[in-house]
Amino acid sequence: MSQHDKMRTMIPSNRQLPSGTPPEVRQLDVNDIPSLLNIQSSVYPAGYHEPGSVFHNRLALAKRYCHGIHGQLGHLGGYLIAHPWHPGHPSALMAHLDALPDTPTHLHIHDLAVHPEQQGKQCAQRLLRHTLRLAIQAGLTTAGLVAVPGAANYWLAMGFKPARTIAPPLFPDNYGAEAVFLNASLALLQDHFLP
Ligand SMILES: CC(C)(COP(=O)(O)OP(=O)(O)OC[C@H]1O[C@@H](n2cnc3c(N)ncnc32)[C@H](O)[C@@H]1OP(=O)(O)O)[C@@H](O)C(=O)NCCC(=O)NCCS
Repeated sequence: MSQHDKMRTMIPSNRQLPSGTPPEVRQLDVNDIPSLLNIQSSVYPAGYHEPGSVFHNRLALAKRYCHGIHGQLGHLGGYLIAHPWHPGHPSALMAHLDALPDTPTHLHIHDLAVHPEQQGKQCAQRLLRHTLRLAIQAGLTTAGLVAVPGAANYWLAMGFKPARTIAPPLFPDNYGAEAVFLNASLALLQDHFLP
């Protein structure tokens, strides 16, 4: 076995990283928005493309829950945008939020996307774990999101469950009829998903 191969076998996969090993995840800032928009346009149909101002808004309100992960050559490979919010009341696509709840209990995952060239490498897993840990540390108890068409299976695999049907205006209809509102208890996700 070459030295290189020995080194490779010594490096644990992401799922086996000892707790305390920092993930390759960092907080986003406004300079990342052009890269983020590039990823967005590479994974979503045009009707789901939010303007940069929406991401400025989320970064201004909840930077703590907005993270990116590096792909090849140091480029942003994926991002997760989330913010404390009201349970059972997902924020609408394209919406600018005025303020966050004073005493939040819930994390709304606004967007998670990984560039097609970086998919299948546990980027989303790392982003999600990092964000959920922060939410748990902050005392939030539930998380939720609107899965765009085709994405629900990913969230089901992560332990989220479809919420009971909610109608507009509580369910933002600009996500489309096939979007699904999913929720999870952070305690359950911690048991089943976070090492
Ligand atoms: C969904 C998405 C974020 C996953 O990103 P990724 O970095 O490829 O995912 P990971 O490599 O971290 O995969 C983690 C696990 O989820 C599973 N997974 C990934 N995509 C999946 C899907 N569409 N359905 C079911 N499971 C999925 C993987 O198999 C993996 O499981 P494993 O660890 O047991 O092998 C990515 O495909 C994407 O950006 N899609 C387009 C944008 C989107 O739909 N985002 C969700 C918006 S609601």
